[in-house]
Amino acid sequence: MIKKKIILDCDPGHDDAVAIMLAVASNEIDLLGITCVGGNATLENTKLNALKICSLLKRQDIPIYAGSDKPLIYDLVTAEHVHGKSGLDTDGDPIHLEPNHQIEEMSAIDFIIKECNGSDEPIYLCPTGPLTNIALSLQKDPSIKDNIKEIVLMGGAAMCLGNITPAAEFNIYVDPHAANVVFNSGIEITMMGLDVTHKVNVNDEIINSIKSNNNKASIFFADLMKFYSRFHRDLYKSNESPLHDPCVIAYLINNKIFKGKKVHVQVEEDSNLTRGETVVDWLGVKKLKSNCNVITEADSEAFFKMLKKELAKLN
Ligand code: BDR
Ligand code: CA
Repeated sequence: MIKKKIILDCDPGHDDAVAIMLAVASNEIDLLGITCVGGNATLENTKLNALKICSLLKRQDIPIYAGSDKPLIYDLVTAEHVHGKSGLDTDGDPIHLEPNHQIEEMSAIDFIIKECNGSDEPIYLCPTGPLTNIALSLQKDPSIKDNIKEIVLMGGAAMCLGNITPAAEFNIYVDPHAANVVFNSGIEITMMGLDVTHKVNVNDEIINSIKSNNNKASIFFADLMKFYSRFHRDLYKSNESPLHDPCVIAYLINNKIFKGKKVHVQVEEDSNLTRGETVVDWLGVKKLKSNCNVITEADSEAFFKMLKKELAKLN
C-alpha cells in the first residue's frame, strides 16, 4: 500500500493534538514532519506543545519545525478562551510533560519547500491552523505547486455562523490574506470548515469510550477533551463539541466518510465586520471556476470508530 505523504501544519491546540495523534497512528499516512504556526497560542507555545505531544507518543523521530509567529498583515489573535493560556491546557493548567527533544533548525517554510521540491511523489499539505506558513511557502517558491497533490485544510464556514465572529471561523479570521493566497493558488483544495466539523461532535460517551482503550494516548485524548469541551458546552449550550482538526486527517485516511461539493471560495480580507468570511458560491451564481471542494457532510459514527481504533495503536 502506498502511504500518503503529508506535512501537518498546525497550532496545537487540543484538536490539533488529536489530528497529530491520528496522523501518527494511521498506516495510510506518512507524516513527513510537523510545522507550527502562531494561532491558538503564540508560536513559542504551539511548537512546545507539538514537542510535548510527540514526546508523549514516544515519537521524537518526527521532525518539528517552527514557522511564522504572526499573520501576513494583521497582528496575531490567539484562542486562549478555548485552549487556555498554553494553547493546550488540561484542567486549567498547561500539560505537565517535559519534551526531551528539540525543534529543528530549518524554518517551517524552508522545510515545506524542500519536501515539495525533493519528493518523487506529490505531497499533501494539511493545515489545521491559520494559513500563514502555507502562503509564505507558496510566495517564496511558487514552483512547489507542481508537487502538491492537494491541500486539505481545516477552516472556514460556508453556510453556517462563524466561531470567532458571526461571519468568520478562527483559522481564516486570523490570517485572511494568507487564506486568499491559498484559495487563489490553483492547487486542489479541500475545505473542512465548520459546516462539517459541527457534524463530528465529541461528547462524554465518546470520550469515555476512547479512554477505555487505556493506553497513554487515549487517556491524554480524554484529558484534552475534558478541558476543550468546557468552552463549547458554554457557547453552544450542548454537550456536543465539534472536533475540528482531526477531520483533515480522517479525510485523507478515508474520504468516503465525507461529502462535499466543488465550488468557488473567496475570503473577505479587510472588512471590520466580516474579516475572514469564506464567501462560498454554493449555487454557482457567479459562474466562476471552482477552486475548492467544500465538505459539508460527515458520517460521525464511522469517524469516531476510526479514531478509537487508531488511537489504540499508540503509546
Ligand atoms: C479551529 O480553530 C482552532 O481553535 C482549532 O484548533 C481549529 O483549528 C476551529 O475554528
Ligand atoms: Ca487548529
